[in-house]
Amino acid sequence: MISNGSVFEDDHLLDPIVGRNSHMNEVADALAPIEDGQRAENCFLFGPSGAGKTTVARAAVRELRREVLDVPYAYVNCWRDYTRNAVLERLSRDLVGAAVPRFASTSTLLDRVHRDFNGPGVVILDEVDQLRETELLYDLHEFRGLSWIGIANDEIDLVTDLDERVRSRISVGYRVRFDRYGGDTIAEMLERRAREGLGPNGESDEVFETIAWLSDGDARMGITTLRVAARKASSEGLSNIPRRLVDDSISEAEREIARKTYSKLNDHQWVVVGVLQQDGPLIQREPHERYSERHDDPVSLRYFRDAHLTNLEQYGLISTRRKSGKKLYSLAQKREQVVSR
Ligand SMILES: Nc1ncnc2c1ncn2[C@@H]1O[C@H](COP(=O)(O)OP(=O)(O)OP(=O)(O)O)[C@@H](O)[C@H]1O
Ligand SMILES: [Mg+2]
Repeated sequence: MISNGSVFEDDHLLDPIVGRNSHMNEVADALAPIEDGQRAENCFLFGPSGAGKTTVARAAVRELRREVLDVPYAYVNCWRDYTRNAVLERLSRDLVGAAVPRFASTSTLLDRVHRDFNGPGVVILDEVDQLRETELLYDLHEFRGLSWIGIANDEIDLVTDLDERVRSRISVGYRVRFDRYGGDTIAEMLERRAREGLGPNGESDEVFETIAWLSDGDARMGITTLRVAARKASSEGLSNIPRRLVDDSISEAEREIARKTYSKLNDHQWVVVGVLQQDGPLIQREPHERYSERHDDPVSLRYFRDAHLTNLEQYGLISTRRKSGKKLYSLAQKREQVVSR
C-alpha cells in the first residue's frame, strides 16, 4: 500500500510544513535583512528530538530562496562534520561551489571561501553542539554577509570556549524554543504524508490519531510508525491499516529510529557505546577513562560530557541514573538489541 516511500524519509520537506507558524515567522524575521542585501541575524533553535527544528530551518530557507533567488546556502550536519576543517570543506563545496583538494589546510579553505563567497548568505549548522572547534563560528563571522541558523537539543552557550574579544562579536539575535508537538499536529502530518505516500484507502483518522497520541510529541516517531504500520498491512495483503497493528509498529519504529541514530555515530561515540556495552554500567568519570584508553585521539572530559554523553542520552541510546549521589551510565536497554557493529 506504500505508493511513494520517499514521503516517509526524514528529509522529505512538506510544502508547506504543518503548523509551527510562529517558529517559521521568527526565523523568517531573522533572515529578512537578506532581502535587502544585508547580513541576517544568527539564530539558535533548540528543543527535543522530533520537534521540527531541522524542518523549520530548512523550510525557512526554502521560503527565503523563493523571495531572493540563489541566496548562497549550505546545510552542515555537525554530527558528521565536527571539525573546523570538515565544516569549511563543506562550505567551500556547497556555499561557493569551489572544488578543494582533499586534506586542504585550514588557511587554504578559509582563503577559498573568502575569495568566492558573495554574501549575504546563510548556513544551517545542524546538531551544532557536536562542533568540536567553535572558533569556526568566528570564521563564519569573518565571511562578509554570512549568517547561520544553529540547531541543538539544549539551549547551550556556543561560544564559551572562545576568548572574550572574539565572543563579543558573535551575536545570536534570535533564540527559538521548540516544544514537543501536540497530538493534533502530528495527526495532520500523518494525514498529509498518507495522502502523498500511501495508496487509495490508506487514510484512517482513527489510526492517525492513535499513532499521534502514542508518539508523545515526536514527529519522527509518528511518521516512522505510520510507515511500519503500512508495511505490515501490505504484507498481510490489506489495503488499509487496522488499529491492531499500531502497537507493534510503535516498538518496531523505536528500534528503526535507534538503528538509524547508531548509523550516524562518529568513531568517538562508537567507542563509548562499545565501552558501555562491554563494561557498563559505569560511574562518574569511568566512561571517559575507558574511552580514552581505547581511542587514539581522545577528546577532553568536558567535551566528552557535553557533546558525546549528553547527545547519546538525548537520542535515547544511553541512560543515566543516580546511585548514592553518583551518576551511573549504561546502554539503554531497548537499544542493546540493535547494536551491531
Ligand atoms: N511541522 C512539520 N511539518 C511536517 N513535517 C514535519 C514537521 N515537523 C517535523 N516533521 C517531520 O518529522 C520528522 C522529524 O522532524 P525534524 O527532523 O525536523 O526534527 P528535529 O527537531 O530536527 O529532531 P532532532 O533533534 O532529532 O534532529 C521529519 O521527518 C520531518 O519531516
Ligand atoms: Mg534535526
